[in-house]
Amino acid sequence: MNTTARADAQARDLAARFEETFGAAPDGVWAAPGRVNLIGEHTDYNEGFVLPFAIDKRARTALRLRGDSTIRLLSTFGDQGPVQADAADLVPGAVKGWAKYPLGVAWALQRHGLDVPGFDLLLDSDVPLGAGLSSSHAIECAVITALNELTGAGLSAEDMVRLTQHAENAFVGAPTGIMDQSASLRGAAGQAVFLDCRDQAVQLVPFEAQESGLVLLVIDTKVSHSHADGGYASRRASCELGADVLGVKALRDVTVADLDEARALLDPVTFRRVRHIVTENHRVLLTVDALRSQGPAHIGQFLDASHVSMRDDFEISCPELDLAVATARAAGAIGARMTGGGFGGSAIALTPARHEQQVRDAVVRAFADAGFTAPDIFTVTPAAGAGRIS
Ligand code: GLA
Repeated sequence: MNTTARADAQARDLAARFEETFGAAPDGVWAAPGRVNLIGEHTDYNEGFVLPFAIDKRARTALRLRGDSTIRLLSTFGDQGPVQADAADLVPGAVKGWAKYPLGVAWALQRHGLDVPGFDLLLDSDVPLGAGLSSSHAIECAVITALNELTGAGLSAEDMVRLTQHAENAFVGAPTGIMDQSASLRGAAGQAVFLDCRDQAVQLVPFEAQESGLVLLVIDTKVSHSHADGGYASRRASCELGADVLGVKALRDVTVADLDEARALLDPVTFRRVRHIVTENHRVLLTVDALRSQGPAHIGQFLDASHVSMRDDFEISCPELDLAVATARAAGAIGARMTGGGFGGSAIALTPARHEQQVRDAVVRAFADAGFTAPDIFTVTPAAGAGRIS
């Protein structure tokens, strides 16, 4: 089955299941992808640059507006049964499990002044949960795309990015930036999303690894993480402290040439956090240039340097991610790094297609030898962003 036929079949199945569950057909079915970040980690909330892409794994939602304020939610995954809530009574922090993502979106839309009626929603997803591929943003982006259309709210992609960020920050309780939802809402097939997080300007940059004889492997370490835990927030606080001491609006305003001076002004830990952000922003720009002028075979060195910076300066890696990266490189990948917020999740390895199997085998063997849980390894390609599929 080709991709379109598969998407149609998935949409039909979900609509049929919706009708069985809720007793009426949905108003439509919407989908939104997870993302992989090629490079630019923790730079988003520093108003810097990121280069993610939407992947060919998506959350799907069948949704029907109701005439009252009742919200009924069901998913095909997870261990949470049906959830019922009242649109007039959504309380930040009170909801557990996947239901906090759709309810957070409804809450953020209300805070934006929109009259959100009750709705029935059935959710499905093939974005692996907790793998650092933005499964939660995929859900939020599918839901906001559906509600935007059905309520006639007329929100732009930029509005939806800010609103889903508000849902994550204030309802879910994760102090995340705008990268993930930008990739999910604004991604396009065959393209990476070069995003300036200061003004949300996007330039699409072709990333067709297979045309250069490459594949992008994702190595899900199975170490799960949550950005509502302390590590992410403490890195964010260090960056804010650094910007404050250096007298800039955001670390985006510090250049590599400023680093010597910064070292004298900052405590050693804050300096290393700042150095990661400043050099990472620079690496994003170098990667975009290399992709445009030479193609994907020339970005490996930036991926490698990014990983070292996250491991040593930002300290957000973990033994499983380091092993995945080192093993993939030794077995033939031309560049590898952890991707996403860190403390677990996935690594990516840009690999010549002819070495794919040996990289996979080497990583599986290394994890077994180290006594780690077996990783899940798969390839991803840049896919379309969120939209209606039925
Ligand atoms: C998570 C957050 C993003 C971003 C990355 C790190 O994915 O949701 O906003 O900060 O971590 O780059």
